[in-house]
Amino acid sequence: MSGLYIHLPFCRQKCRYCDFASFAGAEDLIDDYLAALDKEASFYAPARFDTLYVGGGTPSLLSATQLERLCQLIAKHFMAVSSFAESTLEANPESCSEDKLAVLKQAGFNRLSLGLQSFDDAVLKRIGRIHDAASFLKAYNAARRAGFENISVDLIAGLPGQSKALFLDGLKRLISLGPEHISVYGLQVEEGTPFYKEGVQSDDDLLREELEQTHFVLQAAGYKHYEISNFARPGRESKHNLNYWQNGEYLGLGSAAASYHNGVRRSNISSLRGYLHCIEGNKPLQEFAECLQGKEKEGEQIMLGLRMLDGVRLTPQQQKMFAREIEELVRRGLVAQKGDFIKLTFEGMFLANQAFMAFVGPFEEEK
Ligand SMILES: C[S@@+](CC[C@H](N)C(=O)[O-])C[C@H]1O[C@@H](n2cnc3c(N)ncnc32)[C@H](O)[C@@H]1O
Ligand code: SF4
Repeated sequence: MSGLYIHLPFCRQKCRYCDFASFAGAEDLIDDYLAALDKEASFYAPARFDTLYVGGGTPSLLSATQLERLCQLIAKHFMAVSSFAESTLEANPESCSEDKLAVLKQAGFNRLSLGLQSFDDAVLKRIGRIHDAASFLKAYNAARRAGFENISVDLIAGLPGQSKALFLDGLKRLISLGPEHISVYGLQVEEGTPFYKEGVQSDDDLLREELEQTHFVLQAAGYKHYEISNFARPGRESKHNLNYWQNGEYLGLGSAAASYHNGVRRSNISSLRGYLHCIEGNKPLQEFAECLQGKEKEGEQIMLGLRMLDGVRLTPQQQKMFAREIEELVRRGLVAQKGDFIKLTFEGMFLANQAFMAFVGPFEEEK
């Protein structure tokens, strides 16, 4: 499996919790950015991929004409959007209009990921979203009318001002709409964000309760909890993201986009203007690269695989390398082992970061 990721780093306004590489007030650079993507894509063309994911930022901030240009450049260098086994575009409710949905559908996008975050208007305002619940419903219904049969919706648990009852009420309202896929992330307060500067603290007990309830409520509604933060109706798991967790290869285009090829992980310059400047001046785009070896490499692969709740199969070499760490995780009740398979336990699902630490180097040389 291999995926193509295209990053669109434009947002109308930065949300107060968001640490993603996206910028507000730079819409006048979108056309230059599309030209830059066209040039970067030419470095890797021709190539074929199984899945496509256009993320951000806010890809739906592009106009219908700009979205058409984006689809054309993908087709020109690689393959028609309709030829990918799965092609997803991230959209925000306020900019997901009928004309854009028609362009996306016509080009062959077969999956839409809509960011709702909360169903409560006061919470949405508090976290800096520029849409309300009504505009989400409008976008969701417009997407269905446009023919999208595979829709994913994002929620965040543990948001300030959102009680457990309010969160669960929103989750149930969302279930009643019947999206094929739901992602529920626990709030992360990242350094440098407005939330961090305001001193917003995540309430670990509340977050744990909300995530536990999410697991039971969504499971009862027919969604499989297949990855720590992701739930899907049968067969609707995100193919693109499964490829990441299965350690598959992918190419990322655009500012901040990450790629993985031949064991090397690298990412492009995260600043928008820096990326444009380097593309125009034919300068290297790379900001970071690493090629893990030995135990670090195997540990990373296990850590990615453990995100999937069915677990990960270990090679004999990995079982030997991590025998001590796995024994300790089993003792702490975070991981269960059956034959050559390990998986997170129910407890481990909520303390996954603690389990992952066992697989992150640097490791001491084995004697
Ligand atoms: C690439 S981001 C944003 C996509 C899109 N622009 C939007 O806002 O809906 C994908 C998802 O990550 C989640 N997310 C972003 N920042 C987060 C944070 N600090 N804590 C938890 N979840 C976060 C949100 O649910 C968001 O929809
Ligand atoms: S959450 Fe989405 S819309 Fe909000 S700033 Fe981040 S990328 Fe932009």
